[in-house]
Amino acid sequence: MRAAAGLAAFDTHAGHAIDDDANYQWRIAQRPEGNVRPGDFEWHATDILDPGEGEVLLRTHYLGLAPVMRMYMAGTANTGDATLGPGDVIHGRGVAQIVKSRHPDWREGEMVQGQMGWQTYKVSRMTPQEKFFRMPKNSLPAALGAGVLGMTGLSAHAGLFACGDPKEGDLMVLSGAAGGVGSMVSQMAANVVGCDVVGMAGGPEKCTFIREHGCSAAVDYKADDIEARLDELCPDGIDLYFDNVGGETLQACLERLRMHARIVLCGSISEYTRDVPFRLPNYTRLRATDSVMRGFFVYNHLGRWRSVMDEIAGWIVDGSLKPVQDIEEGFQSMPRALANLYYGANVGVQCCSVRGEPEEWL
Ligand SMILES: NC(=O)c1ccc[n+]([C@@H]2O[C@H](COP(=O)([O-])OP(=O)(O)OC[C@H]3O[C@@H](n4cnc5c(N)ncnc54)[C@H](OP(=O)(O)O)[C@@H]3O)[C@@H](O)[C@H]2O)c1
Repeated sequence: MRAAAGLAAFDTHAGHAIDDDANYQWRIAQRPEGNVRPGDFEWHATDILDPGEGEVLLRTHYLGLAPVMRMYMAGTANTGDATLGPGDVIHGRGVAQIVKSRHPDWREGEMVQGQMGWQTYKVSRMTPQEKFFRMPKNSLPAALGAGVLGMTGLSAHAGLFACGDPKEGDLMVLSGAAGGVGSMVSQMAANVVGCDVVGMAGGPEKCTFIREHGCSAAVDYKADDIEARLDELCPDGIDLYFDNVGGETLQACLERLRMHARIVLCGSISEYTRDVPFRLPNYTRLRATDSVMRGFFVYNHLGRWRSVMDEIAGWIVDGSLKPVQDIEEGFQSMPRALANLYYGANVGVQCCSVRGEPEEWL
């Protein structure tokens, strides 16, 4: 109830109108304190600029949402991106079409995905820092580039395969299992590798969802006693814990490791809005079982972009992986779409449709 009331406050943003004559932006109005609030976001309309020599004009179709964006707004993201402050356009990756090009390597009509920021147009030099990639020409919707076939997909793949060393028959515990990264990891681990996946999510609907997307059992962390449920579902311990939430859940899994277990530190969303950081008291539990706890940052894995995207697209086509994207309609909805992540309102990858699918693309 509290979540629904909190999210309803973001509906005031729905009143903004957009057309194709201006570039609309969401900027930081103030630093968020705790969860994001409607007053943290500022709506702007500016001119659409013409690209100069060596530049392109990009028109946004979809934008992806990620918990790290709240940290961009708070100035606390430790990602190597420039620190943002009030008045800056919020960082975010999106799917866009090149509508004008004066760049030798990029053609009008091409669809790309990369750092668009929260705006409906962008003039870009297509620098390496913006991490633009061409969308592959296949039968899959362009929308997938904002998540499943984008940084969310690469995060799930890198975390599971490059860091988790999953093996057939592993008992894996996965927190944030109904979210963007989580809903991909559960299906890849269960359907591609053959792990037995115990998922954690908030609420009965999400627990039903994760059982339909790779998990053999579900822990409703909002209603269950997590420790008791883990003892019941993993009586002989855990081979692999994929951590999206950090905090007490990570602590509970550390207490239940099998020999040579692996913990993948993907994210710690339960800690992002805390004033006082959670201090993990039991990391030394790794010693007794010769276990490994390994973090990763998706941008350190860009070298495998094309092969990972081809592999994920193949799993979608052969049915091993059902892509789940939760799409808010309209650029106006961006603040609410970000809040959804912190209120747990999203299922699968949270995205926003700015213009829907392009009519055609090169
Ligand atoms: N290492 C990297 O390079 C990398 C890359 C991408 C993402 N990440 C991290 O991976 C995690 C998942 O990202 P995502 O983009 O896929 O987001 P997401 O899981 O789609 O969305 C966040 C979900 O987290 C859950 N949640 C929110 N507050 C929570 C809390 N206090 N305790 C437990 N769960 C909470 C909610 O689900 P419930 O309703 O189930 O609570 C919510 O739907 C995040 O921590 C993110 O920062 C890391």
